[in-house]
Amino acid sequence: MTTDLPVSPAVRRSAELEAQLARDPGRFRVLTGDRPTGALHLGHYFGTLHNRVRLQDLGVDVFVLIADYQVLTDRDVAERLTEHVEGLLLDYLAIGIDPARATVFNHSAVPALNQLLLPFLSLVSVAELGRNPTVKDEIVHSRQSAVSGLMYTYPVHQAADILFCKGNLVPVGQDQLPHLELTRTVARRFNERYGNVFPEPDALLSAAPMLLGTDATKMSKSRGNAIALGADADETARLVRGATTDAERHITYEPERRPGVSSLVLLAALCLDRDPHAVAEEIGDGGAAGLKRTVTEAVNTAMAPIRARRAEYAQDMGYVRGVLRAGNERANAVAEATLEEVREAMGMFR
Ligand code: TRP
Repeated sequence: MTTDLPVSPAVRRSAELEAQLARDPGRFRVLTGDRPTGALHLGHYFGTLHNRVRLQDLGVDVFVLIADYQVLTDRDVAERLTEHVEGLLLDYLAIGIDPARATVFNHSAVPALNQLLLPFLSLVSVAELGRNPTVKDEIVHSRQSAVSGLMYTYPVHQAADILFCKGNLVPVGQDQLPHLELTRTVARRFNERYGNVFPEPDALLSAAPMLLGTDATKMSKSRGNAIALGADADETARLVRGATTDAERHITYEPERRPGVSSLVLLAALCLDRDPHAVAEEIGDGGAAGLKRTVTEAVNTAMAPIRARRAEYAQDMGYVRGVLRAGNERANAVAEATLEEVREAMGMFR
């Protein structure tokens, strides 16, 4: 399929970066992360998780952050944190994040990272914080009665997430681009004011098209419309059976006109590593029932090895928690070294 959509500078830059990654993976340090607010799902898998493992396997140094403090941006209390953190660890290990090569850590265990927030806040204006389109959108959708200071400042905290380890490449979706731009601004201003300490990191945009949830709206951890990475075959079948389709019998891939049907076709195509148009054509007059049969089988087949590994790791939570402890140790060493440099550059009494 060809489109005449203009290619955005971020997309063009990402293509350049991919070429550099193939040539010289050792030049890059990647930082990515998730908020521990619920189970990771197939949208995460095809959107970002899969890509992290690809980068790790290319030889890139990958840091994976469990952003526990960031949970508090849009809710009063972070609930079931331990459960969600352990769930993320299981998901990471199951998809192939290798703790011998990658560093998995969480915000609240790395004090020196969090301390970077103070000098970084001094580098941005209140007006800039108020203009961030992603933050504005999150405020509109927030269920809180008052907007907290963390909501406006978490993008600066995110700059600390990336810059503490001098990450220079951040795989993101479109919604995170304003945060990345702010991170670049923080790095540039710090360097101008105090001397060269930080890289200006690049965004690496995901090429994967977006999967919708089973209700044909945005797939989300908290909307009950997602198939979790850790779901079993029966649960998958049940969720797919309940998915929104439409009244047209003939199955086609037309994301604009038929969002529900097309997202199911796309999910099957991603699992089968095939073109969605070809998958739709093959189902043809099989209708919604045929489509759902294909999707369930494709998901269950593709996810079987991941689910089996996840179940195995779940038998050994001592090991799983140890992965985070070791990652936090490494992250602390890196963060303390960076904070030392920052205090030195700023002329702080030490
Ligand atoms: N905001 C990201 C999300 O909601 C999570 C995150 C926190 C992150 N810190 C980060 C992503 C730093 C990339 C870089 O998905």
